[in-house]
Amino acid sequence: MVKVIECESYEKLSERAADIISEQILVKPNSVLGLATGSTPVGAYQKLVEKYKEGSVDFNGITAFNLDEYCGIDKEHSQSYYTFMRENLFSHVNIDLNNTHIPDGRASDIDKQCSEYDAMIDAAGGIDLQLLGIGGNGHIGFNEPCDCFPVGTHIISLHPSTIEANSRFFDSVDDVPTQALTMGLGSIMKAKKILLLAFGESKRETVKKAFSGPVVPSVPASVLQLHPDVTVLWG
Ligand code: GLP
Repeated sequence: MVKVIECESYEKLSERAADIISEQILVKPNSVLGLATGSTPVGAYQKLVEKYKEGSVDFNGITAFNLDEYCGIDKEHSQSYYTFMRENLFSHVNIDLNNTHIPDGRASDIDKQCSEYDAMIDAAGGIDLQLLGIGGNGHIGFNEPCDCFPVGTHIISLHPSTIEANSRFFDSVDDVPTQALTMGLGSIMKAKKILLLAFGESKRETVKKAFSGPVVPSVPASVLQLHPDVTVLWG
């Protein structure tokens, strides 16, 4: 079931998202969180850092799995998702870095890396709360529109529209990696709860297609309509 909640501003959306995540942590202090990158969740991470500084949320028992990572750039690269997570959340809260996981886009054996990532998620007991953004073409993680719903973590060639959209973070479009590792839609669907954030006029049509249209692999996020517990914060 998908519950869509309209938020009046980015500030409110971020506050609400941080409230949902901190409630999850309060109810289950050893929660397994699935985390997302992109510009949309940045405000929610800032709110979570504020809550941590006020003493109202404790990340000590948390395990985190990120959705995705670029291939072909080092993890210390300024635009890697490893760097993003450290800058936006992990360096500012008391999470044990040994319990934070991001696929290794530089792994020499990609198939092994992908199957090990899925096995680690399963061994941790599965994801309690999965945070998601959404790409303009309906991608979640880096599951691009295609003709099937990929199940496990896999390597993907980024769609030209994704490369174009993400070029704003790089010096030029040619610097954007063309491949990434991403959790599959099956892994995302296995999460007990899902929280998807979408903000801005440019995402309006995408959200409509994903949650009011048919469930089709050409709009990967549409598969979430089949999940029992999805909250979409939209503004
Ligand atoms: C990237 C990430 C996605 C994210 C999307 C949208 O492609 N892999 O997880 O949802 O960007 O990002 P933004 O929130 O910046 O629009």
